[in-house]
Amino acid sequence: MCGIVGYIGSRQAAPIILDGLAKLEYRGYDSAGIAIYDGENIEMRKAVGRLSVLENLTHGGETMKGYMGIGHTRWATHGAPSDTNSHPHMNTSETIAVVHNGIIENYIPLKKKLTDRGYTFLSETDTEVLAHLLDYYYKGNPLEAITKVLHRVEGSYALGILFAEHPDEIYAVRKDCPLIVGAGSDGCFIASDVPAILKYTRTVYYVENQEVVKLGKDGMQFYSVDEEEITKEPVTIDWDANAAEKAGYEHFMLKEMYEQPKTITDTISPRLQDDRIVIEELHMTDEELAAVKRLHIVACGSAYHAGVTGKYVIEGLARIPVEVDVASEFRYRNPIMEEGSLVIVISQSGETADTLAALRESRDRGYKVLGIVNVVGSSIAREADACLYTWAGPEIAVATTKAYSAQLVALYMLAVKLAQVRGTIDDAAAAELIRDLRRLPDQIELLLGQKEKIQRFANRYVGAKDIFFIGRGIDYAISLEGSLKLKEISYVHSEAYAAGELKHGTISLIEDGTLVVAVSTQPALYQKTISNIVEVKARGAFVMAVTNEENKAMEKASDYCVYLPETNPYFSNSLAIIPLQLFGYYVAVGKGCDVDKPRNLAKSVTVE
Ligand code: G6P
Repeated sequence: MCGIVGYIGSRQAAPIILDGLAKLEYRGYDSAGIAIYDGENIEMRKAVGRLSVLENLTHGGETMKGYMGIGHTRWATHGAPSDTNSHPHMNTSETIAVVHNGIIENYIPLKKKLTDRGYTFLSETDTEVLAHLLDYYYKGNPLEAITKVLHRVEGSYALGILFAEHPDEIYAVRKDCPLIVGAGSDGCFIASDVPAILKYTRTVYYVENQEVVKLGKDGMQFYSVDEEEITKEPVTIDWDANAAEKAGYEHFMLKEMYEQPKTITDTISPRLQDDRIVIEELHMTDEELAAVKRLHIVACGSAYHAGVTGKYVIEGLARIPVEVDVASEFRYRNPIMEEGSLVIVISQSGETADTLAALRESRDRGYKVLGIVNVVGSSIAREADACLYTWAGPEIAVATTKAYSAQLVALYMLAVKLAQVRGTIDDAAAAELIRDLRRLPDQIELLLGQKEKIQRFANRYVGAKDIFFIGRGIDYAISLEGSLKLKEISYVHSEAYAAGELKHGTISLIEDGTLVVAVSTQPALYQKTISNIVEVKARGAFVMAVTNEENKAMEKASDYCVYLPETNPYFSNSLAIIPLQLFGYYVAVGKGCDVDKPRNLAKSVTVE
């Protein structure tokens, strides 16, 4: 949510900053801006719309001369997307520039105080308060001004700051919003996320809450909020340099869908030893695991949907009660937790504000938290008591695919492990489940091979108004995710319903030709779902079924069938999601939507 890039070094800054911002566009893309110190003044350019507008305005940054600067892509919170509300924001004399990701919660009283002291505000943003407050406290020492500001502001922030009077340094600071700094041979960098600077350096430092970084062209110093210098160790990023590139695919989303077999292999392999699941990162003995009485799974968006699947699988296999909550609800509903409760938070980015708050709430109450996280070193990964990484690598498309798939298998492994230590399955059953887990990557590969078939079908629905997804049990969980994939990228209204629930109201929306996607992978429920299909067909629906090959009755019951390879019913979501992802993707492509950057969304939501 909002992307920040800063650079100071021996090269022209603006092209490097714009290049970095392009890698962060998934974080927000309603407007963009850049501020460069040109040797005398801070030159600023801002433009509403995609980053390309700013790139055109500055000829890819070439027209902005100077060796240090900060840039920003915005996902609007305070004030609509506009040139004025875009970042950077400056003080009145245009000697201090700030870019900000997050929310300054006490900006109204601060704005009032500053207005009373004669400051004039140009924008509707909370960020502009920071520029004027820095001006107010600045008496020649940037570090002193910044730390004074930090003592006054409440909320969450990652900031990049430039002082015209200090042309050899730029500043970075954060609290509860992601920010890293990197040291390269040609200079130093600030970025919201690693992909922005991967091309220039692999040596990064994770900035902790309320630490201030002073970056110069040859190095950087770290300070506490009390201006004491601190020492930090760098981390070397070992990502494949192509990981954040499209590698010939039309969209990141398509590339990432194709990376799913590898992602699953990478996530399960280190944790499968013959017929046993070994998850060392849990830091829990078998006895401790067996003593877990209740699980609370907490997450947002697709990660929440993975949690819904997790509930069915863990309850089914390990017979432990599992509650699944949307993080923004969990944190305020005063959940009933008891001794023996374990909290699992799931997050691709590891930075989602509500999920992070749920983690903190749980830890404050004394409960152990396990994170299932993709981004290494992210806030959730660091603050959880234990972290099970999903090895999906960088995910750039806003709509998640491979990270979601990795979350599913992480939950399956946990379910099998819990079932084994609790004795709800025997060794033979565990071995069979593990065998089926290992087969998933090849089976997904097979399903991806059906992309043309799904594309032809999807093309018929580019003009659809409403599409419904139905399923029972675990198939309901995948219907939720299939429906979300479709609506977030294609803007076709869609809803997911437990198949038996549709007739309790929503069936009134079914008209002649309305597409209903019915997922049916659970042998015990085949017949029940067919009854629901009959109900919607009687009202004119056209039914696409996603089912197992053995379910012959579905051929007649539905209008169009996609068959899945045979796996354990508990793992069927991992296969069923593939045609649903492809369907959503091709409807969006057919409509000409910006698949990787759907309107109004951001990949990493660092505000409440
Ligand atoms: C945003 C994204 C979703 C994502 C959700 C949770 O809403 O648009 O795609 O599922 O956040 O993100 P997380 O990084 O915590 O998995």
